[in-house]
Amino acid sequence: MGSAIALGFAPAQSALAQAATAAKAQVVILATGGTIAGAGASAANSATYQAAKVPVDKLLASVPELGNLANVRGEQVFQIASESFTNEYLVKLAKRVSALAKQSDVDGIVVTHGTDTLEETAYFLNLTVHTNKPIVVVGSMRPGTALSADGALNLYNAVATAASPSSAGKGSLVVMNDEINSGRDVAKSVNIRTEAFKSPWGDLGMVVEGKTYWFRAPVKRHTTNSEFDIDKIDALPQVDIAYGYGNANDIAYKAFAANGAKALIHAGTGNGSVANQVVPALRELRAKGIQIIRSARVVGGGFVLRNAEQPDDQYDWVVAHDLNPQKARILAALALTRTNDSKDIQRIFMEY
Ligand code: DGL
Repeated sequence: MGSAIALGFAPAQSALAQAATAAKAQVVILATGGTIAGAGASAANSATYQAAKVPVDKLLASVPELGNLANVRGEQVFQIASESFTNEYLVKLAKRVSALAKQSDVDGIVVTHGTDTLEETAYFLNLTVHTNKPIVVVGSMRPGTALSADGALNLYNAVATAASPSSAGKGSLVVMNDEINSGRDVAKSVNIRTEAFKSPWGDLGMVVEGKTYWFRAPVKRHTTNSEFDIDKIDALPQVDIAYGYGNANDIAYKAFAANGAKALIHAGTGNGSVANQVVPALRELRAKGIQIIRSARVVGGGFVLRNAEQPDDQYDWVVAHDLNPQKARILAALALTRTNDSKDIQRIFMEY
């Protein structure tokens, strides 16, 4: 290099290097915590560890290969385990994503997140951020301190996906375990395996060695085609979920309503079934103006059919279609920011 400097090649190389840098996508990583920022006591602790310990700068430094994919910079938005996410956290994060997406010097955004509620955040971003730029949510099932930790490759793959123009316009994406899933469809389906995230309708594609490979595209409304805009939302109405099961009763629904819930998601057995001993309370609560939305505890590969297990037309109830209860909560809360008409809410559940 010394001779090169003497001969004046270095400026040319730095020009090449500058050109290469300029050609790379600008990707911002918003860190919120979770296992991908976790640490365990030993390498054998793949499931026993503390989440939300490693700051974003150390996270990025632990995967220097990210610089081969994009010009990357990080922001620490939160440092929490995602089971502790609240509506306030969701709104703050989505507003930050929206603001960054408007910047001309940002080409893609990655959100690192705990896996417990990752699917809820990904769906919320899918519904509320008006951009075609890639928004990629990523987590890990093992902390970086564990043998065969999955976080580093997941993060590498997430940045590769966010940096790829082919990822644009597909709504929010979730990258885990080499797969690219729709933020709408994907759910955490296993609690301690690296292959934890599954979409009942299949993944959209894969990311392998820094390249994306697509096989499907979303058909439901999202991002720029959404009637929900985070820039016009500052708070979300309270929506709660109660499980259906043998020997169920109506106490939880009444308690949620007394606590101010504007909609109740029934995580029903089978096709969103409601026990006979629970129906009267739900009808009374509907008559008081609370929306009743039938989802199902049975997840993946089907949907709650309107007027099948319950006379939804007669009771003025809504069905969540294929959305699991936790995603139904997200959409119901957003729907209630625009309407309290059950027919309009049913339209929303069929379109998003
Ligand atoms: N506490 C869980 C969370 O933050 C850990 C699970 C994970 O991030 O993989 O969601």
